Amino acid sequence: MWKKIFGGKAQPNEEELANPLFDRINWERLPRHVAIIMDGNGRWAQGRGLVRTAGHKAGVKTLKNVLKTAIDLRLEALTVYAFSTENWKRPRPEVDFLMKLFSDYLIKELEEMNDYNVRIRFIGRKDGMPESLQRQMTAAEELMKDNTGIRFNVAANYGGQDELLRAARSLAQRVAAGELSAADIDEKLMEASLDTAGDPPVDLVIRTSGDQRLSNFLLWQSAYAEFYFTDTNWPDFTPACFVDAMVEFAGRDRRFGGLKNT
Ligand code: IPE
Ligand code: IPE
Ligand code: MG
Repeated sequence: MWKKIFGGKAQPNEEELANPLFDRINWERLPRHVAIIMDGNGRWAQGRGLVRTAGHKAGVKTLKNVLKTAIDLRLEALTVYAFSTENWKRPRPEVDFLMKLFSDYLIKELEEMNDYNVRIRFIGRKDGMPESLQRQMTAAEELMKDNTGIRFNVAANYGGQDELLRAARSLAQRVAAGELSAADIDEKLMEASLDTAGDPPVDLVIRTSGDQRLSNFLLWQSAYAEFYFTDTNWPDFTPACFVDAMVEFAGRDRRFGGLKNT
């Protein structure tokens, strides 16, 4: 069903309009690309007297619901921060748990995501992930590469600075090989060298759990993004919370350095 209803800029169908969750949606003013810093799993768990990893487990369910909502809203791209290049500093058991959780998620959700016409892609340094997980990631990307639905980027072993360094290096190599001249390097070429090549710029960055920072996420892509911060911890972030962010976004005046945009 999802496959049929997803289609670029098509208008919502009757069934979707009947979903009271979407009553507040301004379909003309939705973001094309939403990026989410899924933060606060540990705090969620600690607040319930649970181990931190219980929070990560609960967060997977949230991600599933939010992805479905993004599909219903026909967003073009959703990028989620799952594991940063800095997250290796965490205790080994927590890191191991997260790697296992990613692997289980891929096994469990792959088919359904494919049915929803999702195009998954992992951004970040895949080569730093456990080998068996790398194989799963590549297989998932391969399976969904021709899908035409939402672009779903999962940032794993991702850092914005690392991504920019890799892009700079690859462009430098092309200059050294005589394929390009330094003067050819413009915004378009830079964008095409990033892990998110082909995606529209990020319109909205959501961060849950109260902290107001980027933590090295999508530094280039968020250049003109709107920011939405909520105190809600990621495991408590419902589709209705996602809709709240869409409503807030619809009311923002984006000027892109120009004058009032009405
Ligand atoms: C976000 O939740 C998930 C990852 C970074 C993997 P945290 O684990 O950062 O939760 P808090 O911020 O400690 O509450
Ligand atoms: C950012 O959250 C990374 C992810 C959500 C995966 P962190 O919890 O790692 O960020 P800091 O350490 O609070 O900046
Ligand atoms: Mg955190």
